[in-house]
Amino acid sequence: MNASLALLFIGVSVLFIIGIKLLSSPKTARRGNLVAAAGMTVALLLLTNRDGALIWCHGWAEHPLNYVLIVLGILIGLGIGAFGAYSVKMTAMPQMVALFNGLGGGAAALVAGLEFVHSGSELTAFLAASMLFATLIGSLSFSGSIIAYLKLEGKFEKPHTFPGQNILNGLILLAILGLCGGLTVHVFGYVALPAFLVLAVLALFFGVAMVMPIGGADMPVVISLLNSFTGLAVAADGFAINNLAMIVAGTLVGSSGTLLTLLMCKAMNRPVGNVLFGAFGSGGSSGGGAADAAGKTVKPIQADEAALLLAYAQQVVVVPGYGMAVAQAQHQVRELSEELGKKGVEVRFAIHPVAGRMPGHMNVLLAEADVPYDQLCEMEAINPTMDRVDVCLVIGANDVVNPSAREDKSSPIYGMPIIDADKCKATIVLKRSMAAGFAGIENLLFYKDNTRMLFGDAKQSIQALVTQIKAEG
Ligand code: TAP
Repeated sequence: MNASLALLFIGVSVLFIIGIKLLSSPKTARRGNLVAAAGMTVALLLLTNRDGALIWCHGWAEHPLNYVLIVLGILIGLGIGAFGAYSVKMTAMPQMVALFNGLGGGAAALVAGLEFVHSGSELTAFLAASMLFATLIGSLSFSGSIIAYLKLEGKFEKPHTFPGQNILNGLILLAILGLCGGLTVHVFGYVALPAFLVLAVLALFFGVAMVMPIGGADMPVVISLLNSFTGLAVAADGFAINNLAMIVAGTLVGSSGTLLTLLMCKAMNRPVGNVLFGAFGSGGSSGGGAADAAGKTVKPIQADEAALLLAYAQQVVVVPGYGMAVAQAQHQVRELSEELGKKGVEVRFAIHPVAGRMPGHMNVLLAEADVPYDQLCEMEAINPTMDRVDVCLVIGANDVVNPSAREDKSSPIYGMPIIDADKCKATIVLKRSMAAGFAGIENLLFYKDNTRMLFGDAKQSIQALVTQIKAEG
């Protein structure tokens, strides 16, 4: 690769890094996406052939069909991406990420696999190992992501386990490692191609076997982990076909996916091993507060009384959760906040890092509804101020405000940091029933003396609050 091309690739890498940095704040996330997309466009323009020559400048006459296929691939990719971005509902975003991630892994596996089959026994051990690694991890990520997608779609949410599953998985892994080792040092001779195909099939099967036992509700963490796998597969592809941009982009995706996985697990106070092997959220968990709640009753409230409490408060904190996403109530929430603001009430939003079902879920919804960023507060910043808050409005949140996480050592969520909604002077919880949240456990917040329950779909309840507050003038 000549020096000027290498410099341009470094420029592309810088654009990717700036893009990721900008994605870390809702204020700059859109710009981050555009910067990274610009980097990807330049990387596409800089594609080189095996001899290091720019493909867009050479080879049109010799291989016209190849160019038709490349341009067709780009156009189809653009079409699917744009259609997905415009049409997919916010609540279905984890599914879309799973699908796109799976396709990325599958593409990485195909590139490496074809390179391996094409180059055969001429490959050095390093290049062969890079291609086999990309084939293995990319295939695993592809099939695992498809299963994650189907689980999120509710096709088979429950963990699927059977006796001896770990032993079978261990044996498959051993066979995969054996095949990889043999193919790297070319011991298979004439049967190298069948051995390679067996490896690819086993890798696909291993992805399915890895994700099937995991509970449907843990899929966002699994997707983040598979996302880091896809990144590593792309980086290995970069080594295999000598493409610097792929090495950098793949490494960035791999490392950021790993960090995100660890951050999500930390915010839930669960080790990664517990997510992968714990079958959490699979139903049947009644512990954690069930006994304490027995015999206690909750105090319902009607929209008109709740509206009065809110309108005469000085400070209101809104805690949004998964239910706000399900109800798509974010626009009504913004309207409520504006109406309260007109009455001189200070409204802040307490954002828990794992509220909802994907990282940044609440930030995305509230940003979509144009809630000003300076009203959004992180959990660590808002918790010390909660005892001064007049009314805490919990909208479709459950686990992230469950005091058992702080107080009950026997609770499955013990140790998970929560938003201290129970410490406010009054708390109003908006949900449809007494059903549990993601962790499947009772929430003692609902039974506290200063908590009132406003039952109903969050969108309709908030609409009723807005109407009442407006009517009061
Ligand atoms: P949850 O604990 O899941 O509770 C959501 C609540 O929303 C439910 O209790 C439900 O009660 C209510 N709800 C559902 N639809 C509603 C509607 N239309 N209107 C009003 N309420 C509605 O949510 P959370 O507090 O946001 O906690 C998130 C959980 O997901 C945590 O346990 C977290 O560890 C887990 N998790 C998060 C992530 C990420 S990255 N965010 C990833 C994996 C797991 P009703 O059915 O009674 O209405």
